[in-house]
Amino acid sequence: MAKKKFDKEGSSANDAQMKMRQKLEAMFTHSPIQGEELMFNLGLYTRSSLLVKFLVMHELYRRIKDIPGALMEFGVWWGQNLVLLENLRAIHEPFNKQRQIVGFDTFTGYTNFSGKDKKSGALSDGTYATPKDYKAYLEDLLELHESLNILGHATGNHTLVKGDLEKTAPKYFKDNPETIVALAYFDIGLYKPTKAALLAIKPHLVPGSVILFDELTWKGAPGEAIAFKELFKDTRYSIEKCEYYPSKSIVTIKS
Ligand SMILES: C[S@@+](CC[C@H](N)C(=O)[O-])C[C@H]1O[C@@H](n2cnc3c(N)ncnc32)[C@H](O)[C@@H]1O
Repeated sequence: MAKKKFDKEGSSANDAQMKMRQKLEAMFTHSPIQGEELMFNLGLYTRSSLLVKFLVMHELYRRIKDIPGALMEFGVWWGQNLVLLENLRAIHEPFNKQRQIVGFDTFTGYTNFSGKDKKSGALSDGTYATPKDYKAYLEDLLELHESLNILGHATGNHTLVKGDLEKTAPKYFKDNPETIVALAYFDIGLYKPTKAALLAIKPHLVPGSVILFDELTWKGAPGEAIAFKELFKDTRYSIEKCEYYPSKSIVTIKS
């Protein structure tokens, strides 16, 4: 089972804040609200640090809405961003059933560190592993969300690819050469898998395609920026930080 990401080492919260988080978690676990009503009132327990992630996904969707092509996440973990993308698709373009959503992960956690990476409590072999069969669970969940949305009878627009990106990313694009990448969300942070995935998506980007980097300026994961700068030095792009989440960087490909 996964080592926890949000342990004390990986968080900037102090002891008092950690205690308040634990209290919120306890209030959620023992909520007087149950079942469907609880699911419909999750905002009661949603901290600003999570809400802002939803806002980022919305901002990204608005940017790529008019670009054809797939929405991809490299480093899925539990898959929350993929579910958000499916539901944002339903809100922004309910009749677009050609919008493929593709997620890549080992589902067994971090692997393939190189000399350009740094290991830490949160980033080491096997951190972020999900339970056995979690990929199948997430596939069911994505299909369920798709079914609940408009044109829900036409499912099958999601793909989860399991394995080390250094192998899976080139293979995916070899097998699916028609792919256009509208959005690529990078949240691995390691040099070799990030470089392999960037190399794989590069021929499939078009003007307006967006690449989101989660860790580009974080000293704890230098491999992401190194891979990006090596591969995109001759590409025209703009880069800015996310308005609400300054540690995330948005790259937009130019013509
Ligand atoms: C920080 S987590 C992703 C979090 C997720 N994007 C989110 O916002 O909830 C990083 C993920 O990268 C995956 N990962 C690490 N090394 C990998 C590799 N070499 N190939 C594929 N996935 C990898 C891990 O299993 C982990 O789920």
